[in-house]
Formats: sequence, C-alpha cells, structure tokens
Amino acid sequence: MFSYINVYKWSLVFAIFTATLSHCSSTDTIKPVHNDEVSSSAASQPPVDPIIRREGTTVYIEMTAQVTDIEISEGVIYNAWTFNGTVPGPVLRVTEGDTLVFTLKNKDSSLPHSMDFHAVHAAPSSKFIDVMPGEEGTFTYPTSSPGVFMYHCGTKPVLAHIANGMYGMIIVEPKAGYPSDHLVDREYTLVQSEWYKEHDYEAFLNEKPEHVVFNGNDYGLTKHPLLAKVGDTVRIYVSNAGPNEVSSFHVVGTIMDRVYNDGNPRNIQYGIQTIMLPASGGAVVEFTVTEEGDYAIVTHQFNHVAKGATAVLRVTKDGKDHGGFAMSH
Ligand code: CU
Ligand code: CU
Repeated sequence: MFSYINVYKWSLVFAIFTATLSHCSSTDTIKPVHNDEVSSSAASQPPVDPIIRREGTTVYIEMTAQVTDIEISEGVIYNAWTFNGTVPGPVLRVTEGDTLVFTLKNKDSSLPHSMDFHAVHAAPSSKFIDVMPGEEGTFTYPTSSPGVFMYHCGTKPVLAHIANGMYGMIIVEPKAGYPSDHLVDREYTLVQSEWYKEHDYEAFLNEKPEHVVFNGNDYGLTKHPLLAKVGDTVRIYVSNAGPNEVSSFHVVGTIMDRVYNDGNPRNIQYGIQTIMLPASGGAVVEFTVTEEGDYAIVTHQFNHVAKGATAVLRVTKDGKDHGGFAMSH
C-alpha cells in the first residue's frame, strides 16, 4: 500500500509537501475532453516561494497561482493547478487582529484563478475575484477570528480548481494563545484531500477519488514519519480540503486530550477518539504519547486509508528517527 522509494523534502514544523518534478506536457498527455476548462495539461512551472512580510499588525502575503506537476503517488504525476507549486499550498500563519494585504500573481497562461480565505470576513464579489492569466490582484482583509482555516481558489467551476490542487491552510493564532500552549512540545500541520482522474471533470463530479492523502501524496508521511519523544504532547493543526469527502480524523493508539473545533480556543472538547471534519473543516488536536512506537494517523473511513490517507507519528525515546519502515494500516 505504501511506497518507500522517492525521497522528498520534509519540513519538521510544517510538514508541507513540495513534491514537484520537472515534467513537461506533450500532446500525448492531453486527456480526453470532458470540459474544456479542466481537461488540458500545461507545461510544469517550477515552484515560486511565497513572500510574507510583517509590518506591525499588517501582514503582506504574495502568492502565485501556477501549474506544476506533482507526484501524488509513487510514479503517478498529476499536472496540478497550485498555489506556489505545491499541493497543498504553503501553510500561512498570522495572528488574530492582523490585517492581511494579499497579492495573487497568476502565472497560469490560460486560466483565471483567485483566492478564497475562509479566515476572513469579506465580500466575495469584490475580495475573492478572478485574477486573469499573467495579471496580479491585491486584496485587503482583517482577521478577526482565530482558527484553522482552509483557503482555496474560488474560480468557477470551484470543484475543478480544488480537485486540481488549489487549496491550503491558514492558521490564525488566537491573540491570547490557546489555553494549552504551555503543554505542547511539538506541532505539525496536516491537510487531507482527494485526487481524482487527472483533469476529469466528470470524475470530480460523479466518481470516487483515486487517492485520498495527507499533505498532497500517499507516501511522504509514511516514508518520513512525524516525530515525537515519549511523554511529548503533540499538537496537530488539521484541515480537510475535500473537495467532496469528509474526514473522520483519528490517531491510532491515543485519545485526543483536547480538540479545538475549527481551531477556535472557545470550541474546546475533551477526550475525543475521532474528530469529524466536514469538507473545508479544521481543528487543533492535542494528545500525549506515552509509549515508543509508530502511531498511524488516519481518517477512520478505511476505504480512504486503503487509498493512501495515512501519516505516521513515530515516537522514540529521544524523539529522533531510527529509520525503518512504518507500521501500515
Ligand atoms: Cu484556480
Ligand atoms: Cu470555501
């Protein structure tokens, strides 16, 4: 079920996958036409890093809409529509009360794209509007509610833009922090999502996903487990990008001591075995690991686990990876 061959960059704090390959399209990679807007492959553009700059409580964020090939499963390349060349896009982290000055540069040569931040109050008809190919748009919004939010391209048909890879997570940290901040030893971020037949709008609409994944692919977080030390309290910021399925988020071998639904510190629940994440939903989950070993992180919808939705948390005496294959589910 898992692959162990391809090695990718992995970031400890923000386990975002940047699985990209330079892989140019050719006429024989063009898929059967179901919908002109979503069916053709485009040349892969190398990832462009986001630019994030803070001035007091104003955060300037510049992101790029671009087409980039992504390895979603061992040897399976998807000509993805992305933010900044990765799926999911970059994790953004700001503080409640910040003002975001957001610029989207659209490097896609053929399609408009846009940005819909679930973290803000804004009129979509003026603040989440399309940015045309080769152009850029700047939008300003306040963040007034803390939480773990989805962002995604909101260009019509939204289903195609999310299914093709245009989504990510924005964390708005509560101004006063979470009441459990002092207990937490490690933090990670996980975004669950689905992959369907490449650029096949009919499949997005009516078929089952071919892959259900954490952080963009089905092998990265089993090949390179998240790490913790015996006794650590681990916090995971988790979000379900969908586009179509819910997540029954569960960590095998532990109970979530605290869950902040949608990441709001006032939405606290205790002693949760499985947290339901609707499409676009998020949470902060915290638990303590008491014994060494590999702990699978799954959606408890096991047909989706069989399609790739597993990450592994490896718990060791010293918090270091000893290597070796992770236990599978
Ligand atoms: Cu888009
Ligand atoms: Cu949305």
